[in-house]
Amino acid sequence: MGRLIVVSNRVPSPRERTQPAGGLAVGLRDAMKGVESVWFGWSGQYSEDSADQEPVFDKVEGVTFATVDLTREQYERFYENFSNALLWPLFHYRIGIIDFHREDLRVYREVNAMFADHLVRFLKPDDTIWVHDYHLMPLGAELRKRGVKCKIGFFLHIPFPPWSVMRVLPPAAEFLREMVSYDLIGLQTEEDVRNLNECFRGCGLDKAAQAFPIGIDPKEFAQQAVDNIRDPEVKRLKDSLRGRKLILGVDRLDYSKGIPERLRGYETLLKRYPEHLRGAVFLQISPLSRAGVSSYQTLRRELDELVGFINGQHADFDWTPIRYLTQPVPRALLASFHRLADVALVTPLRDGMNLVAKEFVAAQDAADPGVLVLSHFAGAAPEMENALLINPYDCDDVADALDQALTMPLDERQKRWEALNEEVTRNTAAHWARHFLEVLGETASPS
Ligand code: ADP
Ligand code: F6P
Repeated sequence: MGRLIVVSNRVPSPRERTQPAGGLAVGLRDAMKGVESVWFGWSGQYSEDSADQEPVFDKVEGVTFATVDLTREQYERFYENFSNALLWPLFHYRIGIIDFHREDLRVYREVNAMFADHLVRFLKPDDTIWVHDYHLMPLGAELRKRGVKCKIGFFLHIPFPPWSVMRVLPPAAEFLREMVSYDLIGLQTEEDVRNLNECFRGCGLDKAAQAFPIGIDPKEFAQQAVDNIRDPEVKRLKDSLRGRKLILGVDRLDYSKGIPERLRGYETLLKRYPEHLRGAVFLQISPLSRAGVSSYQTLRRELDELVGFINGQHADFDWTPIRYLTQPVPRALLASFHRLADVALVTPLRDGMNLVAKEFVAAQDAADPGVLVLSHFAGAAPEMENALLINPYDCDDVADALDQALTMPLDERQKRWEALNEEVTRNTAAHWARHFLEVLGETASPS
């Protein structure tokens, strides 16, 4: 059997304890454990000339990490501008904040071509290539132009919008035509599949995508949650609660995650259900993400103001309703924080999947599980109907669900959790990857 070559912009650093937050790196790393593979992508570093360099190879536990640098201009135009100030908001249905420039498109294409040039130098004929996410949509076509005959699959970790939204992207039709080069296109949900298939039809293309909802490694996460529960830092958090309930939010600082909406929902709880004043603490952990992009800077300012406002309004001299952190927390510690939490508040306005919801479930203690409050607009929602599903745009809906979660009797918490945990355990990251690669393997070979 040939090798698996995974390609993504973000590659987890193989040797560091604190990893950058993000579903792609977490989900894929879980999926690739023990598989003989190469993971190619951006090193996270910059150099003067990205074309004239050799990838750096580093083999860790069966996975060879092969990374290349970007130039500063590529980082800005390919990663910050085209990928994250245009494609990200567009694919999350936020047409109002997109920013298109032809020069960014040129550099987006340049980086995809540069990735293809590097890849063809070490590809073997029986390799299988698996390309990930919106940074690399044209990579399959670039590889085909260079004569690559291997099977090439593509998986998108974020939502796919309907044609009425997608066609706002000036090169939409070109991108869709290029996506036909992939032997298999995987998306997170059936809704995304309907949307992309509608886009293909809109452009007269005969191609169809398939849904492969991603999972986590629930066993490992649960084990970390148990193993670290006596860690001094976890104990510090527990002691600081003084018996109060813990509501937890964990997300990259991103406007798609609905963090201001969640804060307004919590504030509404404090106003409408004053019995929870002093009875709960809301801990929001949101490491900075894409901090050079202006919409992320605007969100950070909004959150600084909102957290300060709500705390100023409702705090007492010995109780602060919201604790807000913008630095990442090591994953092992995070797992135990989830286990300690009584409620997880996961309120994206739109999200490809949302692994945090699954991690919270995996980390719970079966004897005394916490409650998941989850947005209808997370890709995870169709699989997680036993969560308290809410509409994040309605702060009263969020407040009612929080009250229900904070007062839910043990037997109902257990019933809901058991059903959720069954699903999280059934559809793991490893299962997701195996399923995708099996279907890719069965597609007719490219001519
Ligand atoms: P996205 O891919 O949009 O970031 P997901 O919820 O799918 O969203 O994945 C986020 C991943 O990043 C999860 O595995 C989560 O545990 C991790 N993560 C999120 N916030 C933090 C944080 N504050 N510190 C460490 N890891 C985080
Ligand atoms: O899962 C969606 C995703 O955009 C990944 O593509 C990405 O790696 C992750 O979120 C985190 O974002 P970034 O790589 O921009 O830090």
